[in-house]
Amino acid sequence: MSKSALITGITGQDGSYLSELLLAKGYTVHGIVRRSSSFNTARINHIYEDPHVSGRRLILHYADLTDSTGLRRVLETALPDEIYNLGAQSHVKVSFENPEYTADSVAVGTLRLLDCMRDHIEHTGREVRFYQAGSSEMFGAAKPPQNELTPFYPRSPYAVSKVAAHWYAVNYREAYKLFISNGLLFNHESPRRGETFVTRKITRAVGRIKAGLQDKLFLGNLDARRDWGFAGDYVEAMWRILQHSEPDDFIAATGEAHSVREFLDEAFSHVNLDWQEYVEIDPLYFRPTEVDYLLGDPSKARTKLGWRPKTTFRELVQMMVDSDVRLAEEERLISPKKVVAAAR
Ligand code: NAP
Ligand code: GDD
Repeated sequence: MSKSALITGITGQDGSYLSELLLAKGYTVHGIVRRSSSFNTARINHIYEDPHVSGRRLILHYADLTDSTGLRRVLETALPDEIYNLGAQSHVKVSFENPEYTADSVAVGTLRLLDCMRDHIEHTGREVRFYQAGSSEMFGAAKPPQNELTPFYPRSPYAVSKVAAHWYAVNYREAYKLFISNGLLFNHESPRRGETFVTRKITRAVGRIKAGLQDKLFLGNLDARRDWGFAGDYVEAMWRILQHSEPDDFIAATGEAHSVREFLDEAFSHVNLDWQEYVEIDPLYFRPTEVDYLLGDPSKARTKLGWRPKTTFRELVQMMVDSDVRLAEEERLISPKKVVAAAR
C-alpha cells in the first residue's frame, strides 16, 4: 500500500516542493488550503488534479489552523500516515504587526493539530508521524553557530510562537509516546519564495530593473547574516526526518552564512548591474528586534539522516535571478508599466 501524507501550508513555498517530492515517491498527498477571495494555489497549479479525475493522488481540503473542527474532519477523511505541519503566518516583520494572529496560527494552530492527531491515534490505533516546521528564528540572538543543543532566544512574536509550537511537539511526543519530530530549518529560498522575503524581493527587483520596470529597491538592514539554502533540498530533509527510526529534532542548514549585502552583490552582478545604484535604505523595513546572525551546524542531520544540501549559495542566487529575469520579461510584454517598489 502506498503511503498517504497530509500537508498544512501546501500552497506555500515548502508545501509545493514537498508535494512534488511525495508524489514522486508514490504518496497520496492531502493538502489544507485556506479559503481566500482570490486563488492562492499558484504554486501547486502544475500538480493540481481535478476532483473528477479518478485515482487522483493530490487532494485539497478547505481548512484552517485556527479552526480545530475543520482540522479534525480533514484528518479523519485523509487518514494520513504522515502529517507535515508547514502552515504558518511565516513573515517575521508581519508578526510584529499581527502578533495575536501569528500566535494563533503558529503556536495554538500546532497544538490544535497535535491534539487532533492524539485523539485520532487513540480512537483508531493507527500509526501517524508528525513533522513540525521549526525555524532557525527560534535561536534568534543566540551566538552562532547554532546546533540542536543551542538554547532558544526568540526575537519576534513569530519566533516566540515557533518556540511554543516546538515545545508542544516535544511535550506531546513525551507525554503520549507519539512519533513527533521537529525540523529546525534555517532560511531556504527558491524562485517560489514569497515576494516580501528579502531574497525574492531582491531577485524580483533585479529582474524588473533589467526589464526597465523598476528604478529603485527599498530595503532595511543589509548587515543581517543568514544561512540560506535551496527549499528543494530542505523538503528532502523533512521527509528523511519522518523516515528516521525514532522521533527526534534536527537542524537543516548549509553551514555557511552571508549578509544581505553579499546577496545583493551576487544577484545584481549576475546581470552586470551594480546594486549601489538602485538600493535605498528605508527604516520601514527595520524590525523592532533584529536577528543579526544565523549560521546552522547541520552535522546531526548529515550523520543520522545522510542529508546534505546540494545547492550552493551562488547557484541558489543565480537560479532565483534567472527565473525572475524571465518573469519580468513576460510582465514587460504584457504590461510595460513601472511598479512602485516601495509598496513591497
Ligand atoms: P510560506 O510560503 O509563507 O507558506 C505558508 C503556508 O501556510 C501557506 O500555504 C499559507 O497559506 C499557509 N497558512 C498561513 N496561515 C494559515 C492558517 N491560518 N491555516 C492554514 N494554513 C495557513 O512559508 P514557507 O516558506 O513555505 O515555510 C513553511 C513553514 O516552514 C512555515 O511554517 C515557516 O514558518 C517554516 N519555516 C520556513 C523557513 C524558510 O526559510 N522558508 C525556515 C524555517 C521555517 P496561503 O498560501 O493561503 O497564504
Ligand atoms: N523581508 C525583508 N524585507 N527583510 C529585509 C529587508 C526587506 O526589505 N531588508 C533587510 N532585510 C533583512 C531582515 O531584517 C532580516 O534580517 C533578513 O533580511 C532576512 O529577512 P527575511 O527574508 O524576511 O527572512 P527572516 O530570516 O526574517 O525569516 C525567514 O526565515 C526564517 C528562518 O530563519 C522566514 O522564512 C521565516 O518564516 C523563517 O522561519
